[in-house]
Amino acid sequence: MAQDDTSGADLIAADSSHAAPTASPGTAVIQTDTFENPGFPPHRPRVTDEDPKREKRAQRTVYTLFYLSVLGSVWAIAAYMLFPIESNNVGDVRLNNMFIGLGATLALLGLGFGIVHWGKAVMKDVELVDERHPIGGSPETQAAAAKVFADANEESGFTRRSVIRNSLIGALVAFPLPAVVLFRGFAPQDQNPVELLSHTMWKKGTRLALDPSGVPIKASDVTIGSAFHVIPEGLQDLEHGRLEEKAKAAVLLMRLNPDELNPSAGREGWAYDGIVAYSKICTHVGCPVALYEQHTHHLLCPCHQSQFDITHEAAVIFGPAARPLPQLPIAIDDEGYLVAQSDFHEPVGPSFWERH
Ligand code: FES
Repeated sequence: MAQDDTSGADLIAADSSHAAPTASPGTAVIQTDTFENPGFPPHRPRVTDEDPKREKRAQRTVYTLFYLSVLGSVWAIAAYMLFPIESNNVGDVRLNNMFIGLGATLALLGLGFGIVHWGKAVMKDVELVDERHPIGGSPETQAAAAKVFADANEESGFTRRSVIRNSLIGALVAFPLPAVVLFRGFAPQDQNPVELLSHTMWKKGTRLALDPSGVPIKASDVTIGSAFHVIPEGLQDLEHGRLEEKAKAAVLLMRLNPDELNPSAGREGWAYDGIVAYSKICTHVGCPVALYEQHTHHLLCPCHQSQFDITHEAAVIFGPAARPLPQLPIAIDDEGYLVAQSDFHEPVGPSFWERH
């Protein structure tokens, strides 16, 4: 087979002549490269090149980092067993995530820093030039490649034996379908998942409570400019599905000057004296919208930087989210506690669900 004469080892040591191409006298009027090649600055040896002790120390640092990485990986596995998540307890989830995360972080950092330090301080320090050459192969290489395909087609009969070819295509198309069907198993079997996702724990009279303590919030506790992370009262007492319910019902509560709110028709009574509650689940892909900028009254989702304007019913003012955060209508009860007037009036979370 013909060889591509531009492939292979094209690396040239940097100290070889690397001058800019020059035109042959009398055969060219335009120089091929109008920029003069500045070449390399003088080579500066590293301390590890000149001092064997420093080199040994660098080697020790590299393998210590790699051993630390091993330690981190082992710790992550141990943490998985030492801090199991039992009975949906949020404290267990936090401990489990934190210690596994610490192990994984150590493993990654040790590996990353070790590799970088190895490359920078221990590996040979030789500067090389990789000559640029055409991406395509030579005409001989291209012809050889085309011949390989033609021979393979001839020998397999791929275009001649159309029944076999079509049945193969059919098998390849059908092959991933079981996976699609199996994914259905992730959704509840005996209930309509769309219906489930369309409703949350909030209903008329449910008190707004602090996350995670579950202590109900009085309207008088919410000062202008403050923001609270809120869950429905009673969420902590759920035996099953507490995290699932929280993932849908989490709310952010803020108090503004009532004059700054601009409710649309029909939503005038959804706030209480400047206190508004919005779903904390981002309408882009469902991250918690956790950052509140008090001066601008903007909520920021840290995942992909969607921003929502609280003064205009959480309208999207920046980022990929496609619709405003759903608002939870609120009021106060006889004792002055903040309560929901109803569930959300639209599905929370990513916009996909709203289309059903
Ligand atoms: S999930 Fe909030 S911006 Fe993407």
